[in-house]
Amino acid sequence: MPEQGAPREDAGGATIRVLPSGVEFRARKGQTVLDAADEQNVIWPTICHANAECTRCFFEIVEGGGNLSAMEAREEEALDAIRWRGTPRPLERLACCAQVNGDVVVRRRSVRKREEEANR
Ligand code: FES
Repeated sequence: MPEQGAPREDAGGATIRVLPSGVEFRARKGQTVLDAADEQNVIWPTICHANAECTRCFFEIVEGGGNLSAMEAREEEALDAIRWRGTPRPLERLACCAQVNGDVVVRRRSVRKREEEANR
């Protein structure tokens, strides 16, 4: 049994680092980026709250894209709707769909810790 106050075990977990803010948070293996952010008190832009409809949660992969789950049809369809922005598609994912299997570095403006929001 873990000691009281000991860090929660996340065997197989991963670190998500977000640029340009430098915010880092942990995710359990198989957890979506958006769920992990919410659980770790990180504010990640969303309107539809993980329904793969708003595309507001999009991010760009900087490193470790192979550590994310394969893209499924609903994510691909949602990203098709914002293709006009010109970001190369293989580097773009939705945080509500991409599941984390290892460390990853991503780029997404407006991601910040909840306590930073409180101090604004
Ligand atoms: S949260 Fe709306 S598409 Fe991901």
